[in-house]
Amino acid sequence: MDDAGRAPVVEMVDIVKVFPGVRALDSVSFSVQPGEIHALVGKNGAGKSTLMHVLTGLYPPDSGAIRIRGVQHDNLNTARAKEAGISLVAQHVKFIPGLSIAENVNCGMLPLRRGGFVDWKKMARDAEERLARFGLDVDVKRRMEYTTVAERQMIEIARALFADASVVILDEPTAPLPKHDVAKLFEFVRRQREQGASFIYISHYLEEIFDVADRVTVMRNGAVVGSAPVRDITQPELIRLISGANVERYKRESGKPGQPVLTLKGLTRPRAYSDIDLTLHAGEVVGLTGLEGSGPGELARGLFGLEELGDGEVTLGTKVYRAGSPITSLQQGLAYLPRDRHGLGIVGMRSVRDNVSLSVLGRLQPLFGLINSPAERKLVQNYIDVLGIKTPSMQTAVENLSGGNQQKVVVAKLAATEPKVLILDEPTQGVDVQAKVDLLRIVDQLSRRGVAIAVVSDELNELMDICDRILVFYRGRIIREFKKGRDTITTTGLLAAIEGESVEKSNAVL
Ligand SMILES: Nc1ncnc2c1ncn2[C@@H]1O[C@H](COP(=O)(O)OP(=O)(O)OP(=O)(O)O)[C@@H](O)[C@H]1O
Ligand SMILES: [Mg+2]
Repeated sequence: MDDAGRAPVVEMVDIVKVFPGVRALDSVSFSVQPGEIHALVGKNGAGKSTLMHVLTGLYPPDSGAIRIRGVQHDNLNTARAKEAGISLVAQHVKFIPGLSIAENVNCGMLPLRRGGFVDWKKMARDAEERLARFGLDVDVKRRMEYTTVAERQMIEIARALFADASVVILDEPTAPLPKHDVAKLFEFVRRQREQGASFIYISHYLEEIFDVADRVTVMRNGAVVGSAPVRDITQPELIRLISGANVERYKRESGKPGQPVLTLKGLTRPRAYSDIDLTLHAGEVVGLTGLEGSGPGELARGLFGLEELGDGEVTLGTKVYRAGSPITSLQQGLAYLPRDRHGLGIVGMRSVRDNVSLSVLGRLQPLFGLINSPAERKLVQNYIDVLGIKTPSMQTAVENLSGGNQQKVVVAKLAATEPKVLILDEPTQGVDVQAKVDLLRIVDQLSRRGVAIAVVSDELNELMDICDRILVFYRGRIIREFKKGRDTITTTGLLAAIEGESVEKSNAVL
């Protein structure tokens, strides 16, 4: 983008924001040009979301100036920020279930435009026209709950732009999206940029930054440490700016697997998976991958009792495994990190300490009769250290941590239950480059303590670094096994299998 001679749409100058125990923004200056996709990156807790909350008027800054389209705003609040053209599209767009897309699109505007009288046909037509203007061809009579997360985001962006937003903020929009929807969202965002809209784009997926952004600004510890056009920077340079150091990839040394812990035989659930034969051994890390809907996610949720498990034999240890609910699964020693961590697993108002130890209390109590506080503190501090959870103290409420750090609390909590089997669904989603490595390290350490671990993921490089075996699903079946030491594992080979290329050969393999 050519910045010369164009006034920025957003100019934030020397913004300071202090929370108890943290200087979240330490004199941050940040600006966005018209028609620019500006990526904002940095480690978990760097201050990205806080900066955006200041821009959307949610948090008043302690000092600093904000100019939007040339106008200085000294007392910004959410209504004024919106009016000035700033719009934030949430990762999980809120909508009113039961209503159609058209009704949801119109919701905020109905009373203003029609004075209490609603012409439904016209409303549908309007909504359709409006979305079409932004290149979205959807059936507006469809109910909102039947749209995909990506469609909801695009509808929300269109809605914001229609309401005259000039800057749309996307805070980790792609975390909950399957890969092909990411491409759709990007195409849509680029098209809106061509029309002059600006985007602030927050993501931990660095490839995405290079794919979609024009400029990238890096934050570290509440300060901006660099900003450059994307074409002038390389990925290793960007990683160094983000972390302040070189980040090594974490590669696990495969050990000798122990006894079988979880055994599935002929497990079948119609429209989800069929004839799954799979054994997880103690101390083993097994990757499960495939296209969206091809089975691994469904299998994980089935095993944890979030969805039906289906028919077949499942044994955990020496006993027949009873699926049905997360509680019974945890009691038998099977824990699961859900892909959609939204609202699951953590209790926002409670402290980091309570959250990590809540799930272990059951285990500590019978041992000690009452909660042994020094023991609890030690356990919690241990996980905070190992995972590098950035928190002012153990007492801090989890809802005040950054997104990525909340995520680490969830993992700490699961690890603290000391499960026999741990299933992680996209564990590195939303965590920064350094924290990814920390998480992979903890997976390795848990496996060395004898936990059998399955990682459901489509981050192929990470699977290759951490897994002893990778199983590829295609249309509900396991069609290939790649084993470290036996097979040469490459991303190309994995991708081919994921696309189903080796379906014919598969019978010979398994
Ligand atoms: N409401 C709040 N009260 C207290 N501290 C807060 C609050 N919101 C954020 N913080 C702290 O401010 C710092 C910056 O957090 P922020 O959410 O902006 O990080 P982030 O860069 O968005 O990280 P992530 O990538 O993990 O989402 C963190 O140390 C966080 O704990
Ligand atoms: Mg954040």
